[in-house]
Amino acid sequence: MMLPPPGTAEEAAPHEREQPSTNVIHIPSVPPGAIYIEEGIAARCGAIFASHGIRRAVLISNPVVGALYGASVRNAIREGGVEVDSLEIPDGEAYKTVLTVERLCEQLAEIRADRATALVALGGGVVNDVVGFAAATYLRGVPLVTIPTTVLAMVDASIGGKVGVDLPQGKNLVGAFYNPAFVIADPLLLLSLPPRTFAAGMAEVVKIACIASPALFELLEQREPALGPQDLGQLIATAIEIKVRIVTEDPYEQGIRAILNLGHTLGHALEAARGYHRIMHGEAVSMGMIGALRLARSLNVLEDDYEARLESLLERYHLPTRIARAGWERVEAALGVDKKRYGQDIRFVLPVRLGQVEVHRNVPLSLVQDVYESMLTRDEESAFDAEGDPDEQDMARAGYGDDTMNDVP
Ligand SMILES: NC(=O)c1ccc[n+]([C@@H]2O[C@H](COP(=O)([O-])OP(=O)(O)OC[C@H]3O[C@@H](n4cnc5c(N)ncnc54)[C@H](O)[C@@H]3O)[C@@H](O)[C@H]2O)c1
Ligand SMILES: [Zn+2]
Repeated sequence: MMLPPPGTAEEAAPHEREQPSTNVIHIPSVPPGAIYIEEGIAARCGAIFASHGIRRAVLISNPVVGALYGASVRNAIREGGVEVDSLEIPDGEAYKTVLTVERLCEQLAEIRADRATALVALGGGVVNDVVGFAAATYLRGVPLVTIPTTVLAMVDASIGGKVGVDLPQGKNLVGAFYNPAFVIADPLLLLSLPPRTFAAGMAEVVKIACIASPALFELLEQREPALGPQDLGQLIATAIEIKVRIVTEDPYEQGIRAILNLGHTLGHALEAARGYHRIMHGEAVSMGMIGALRLARSLNVLEDDYEARLESLLERYHLPTRIARAGWERVEAALGVDKKRYGQDIRFVLPVRLGQVEVHRNVPLSLVQDVYESMLTRDEESAFDAEGDPDEQDMARAGYGDDTMNDVP
């Protein structure tokens, strides 16, 4: 599972010898899972498909990503001697539903995809989750391959074996644990991302650094320009390696994996209070991480304070660290489901020092409110606005399904 340094080859399968600079992370708990990380690898992934014994595949994307990369990825897979069909699902979280999975499975049945046909998810987290769930359930499970095209999908959604869809009552309420046969992580596919989507994904990379890697944190601090998607290979590989290490220790979320929720308790509440369509998940996590740090300080858990460093790092990536105006009632309501489920106090992942966090089960709600209020600002430019109108569904989803400890990223 060790990540070889860039530019070295592991001794292994023949396709690796042909592409010596590919970083390959083997996942011992789910053989033969592997993550192939290299710039440009998506356009020449045929050999990898062939080496995994795949003879037929269905490439599934959405209209945006399909238009950008569908043809080149399809041709690359065909070069491995694989028969490839293409299907599309609509773009957006609104389509992360059972209905989309049903339609997709109907199309798979129409083209007579069989048990040996691999489903290839080309896209962001939504495509990953929908196609992953279809792969887990169509014919009781067919091989899954993911080719993530957002930072979030690359470092988070495609690693960890969680797939699923939303219900009106909450996010990710229907799903499964299902690991891909392999992941193709090509940082070049990130070059076309809108800057805001790119930045939101980087919040998860910052999170991983805060949880487990001061070295990754420094790498993020040194990147020039911060927002440029060039030369992302090392960052992505390091972030993936850390997430793999954590989920391998706890594949079914019994314990340690909860640390991946840093910034997510308050983050999810802010998302729900604001409306999921108004704020990006990574932006909410950014504010949530500052909140967790302040809570840790108040509770005397924080042994080595790095708030100033974290704040300037998040700002470099154009991520919000402050909240405009008060909207506590809604945030409290969003946290409130947790309160019912776990008692009066709330469970939080709290930073101890850079690269180390702890799970705390009894953080008082009043303290969370204090921290929330300490994060309010009048500076509309640099802040997240907690006012506005979340729709009823947003509030229904609040804290349920995608909440603190129930749905670990
Ligand atoms: N399964 C998991 O463990 C896990 C973990 C974290 C998040 N998620 C899920 O991931 C989803 C969010 O994923 P996301 O942030 O990737 O959003 P997304 O999949 O909706 O992608 C964001 C937008 O970017 C577009 N896009 C994707 N790649 C692009 C590219 N290379 N160039 C240009 N545009 C591109 C998409 O078409 C979409 O419009 C949520 O549904 C969340 O629940 C799942
Ligand atoms: Zn997240």
